[in-house]
Amino acid sequence: MKLKAKKSLDLKGNIEIPGDKSISHRALMCSAISNGNCEILNLQRSEDVLNTLSVLKELNVEIESKEDRLIVSGRGFSGLQEPNKELFFGNSGTGIRLMTGILPKQEFSSTLTGDDSLSSRPMMRVIEPLKKMGISIDCSSNQTPPLKIFPSRNIKGINYDMPIASAQVKSAILFASLGLDEETIINEEKITRNHTELMFDYFGANIEFSSKKIILSPTDKLLAKKLFIPGDFSSAAFFIVSCLITNNSKILLQNVGINPTRIGLLNKLKEMGAKINILDERNLGNEMVSDLEVETSELSSCDVNPDEVPNLIDELPVLFIASCFAKGTSSFKSLKELKHKESDRLSIMINLLKKMGVNAELTEDNLLIEGKGKDFMFDGFDADSYGDHRIAMALVIAGLNCNSQINISNYECINTSFPEFFSLGKSIGFNIEIS
Ligand code: S3P
Repeated sequence: MKLKAKKSLDLKGNIEIPGDKSISHRALMCSAISNGNCEILNLQRSEDVLNTLSVLKELNVEIESKEDRLIVSGRGFSGLQEPNKELFFGNSGTGIRLMTGILPKQEFSSTLTGDDSLSSRPMMRVIEPLKKMGISIDCSSNQTPPLKIFPSRNIKGINYDMPIASAQVKSAILFASLGLDEETIINEEKITRNHTELMFDYFGANIEFSSKKIILSPTDKLLAKKLFIPGDFSSAAFFIVSCLITNNSKILLQNVGINPTRIGLLNKLKEMGAKINILDERNLGNEMVSDLEVETSELSSCDVNPDEVPNLIDELPVLFIASCFAKGTSSFKSLKELKHKESDRLSIMINLLKKMGVNAELTEDNLLIEGKGKDFMFDGFDADSYGDHRIAMALVIAGLNCNSQINISNYECINTSFPEFFSLGKSIGFNIEIS
């Protein structure tokens, strides 16, 4: 079976964007170590998030599903119970890396594993700062999962200059710093998503943060809370670009998280001339949310600088597709981190752009893409997602402007972040089928 994406136009309709992945992981984890019963609304029901949920259940956290919400009974920072088996995080780097901050405070050892993709992703980035804090943690000889975490009694606060831009690493350190009697300070050179800081603040932690500096002072508990998860901007991104590059389209995306550390793509597309209106901005549980009205647009090329990369890192595959339909040559600098995602997204995307007949030139980790303008069409081809959900969805968006069709194999991975992608896409007029 393949997912086939074909020429589409006149995309129309309203879409309610499902809950954010990054925030869903954090909401489950913060609730599980809080001091009471938490209520979570609009949790993302993707494979990644459901794996984190199963891991927490395995650690004896009671999680009850009630109509549209989950009730999670918090067990405090050190109240998890020994699992009967290894903790399996599937495809999720966020799941496994954030839990490395929570597990050392428990009275038992645990083993953390993942699927083939996660089992080849770098883990020294979390292990190195956690060891400096006095945490006992090991990985395979390739510096990848499985991870082994041991009870660590003398965890110390840390003053840490982040060597790479990573919200996952920052968050692992912050989770590890809860319940200590020393402060932790993290200095970031580049701004990364700040959902953990916002959620810790919402749950009553003693945290102060400005761009690039975070101070977590001694915090002895997280308070039980009710929270609503905003729609995932990274999911919305595929629909935004689909609408911009197909003729005669206009859609409304409802309930989209617009945290400033996440909307690098939105800002960049606007600079490119995209018609996107931000409507009804509101604050929900410390996170900004809005509705986005998007219309077919004539795009010009873009320049993405190194500082901007972390805030659109997950959206780069679909931004590459958008830049194929822009006028002029787009430039992307400092894309090294893109090689360490669920797949080597840099190499895979360059090959796909070539299949589309688009010139893409890589020098070290800087990329130039020669846009072909708004009326660009290309011949169909077969393509593999390599098991990477964002590659699969970027291919679908490209296929909406294909003369014939793109046949995508290994498309099931879309379920890792966005199980509703197919049905929502069809509801606004995506010409897609599985056969
Ligand atoms: C995430 C952080 C980013 C992002 C990932 C989710 C998070 O990874 O690419 O999809 O939820 O903290 P890094 O922090 O490794 O850059």
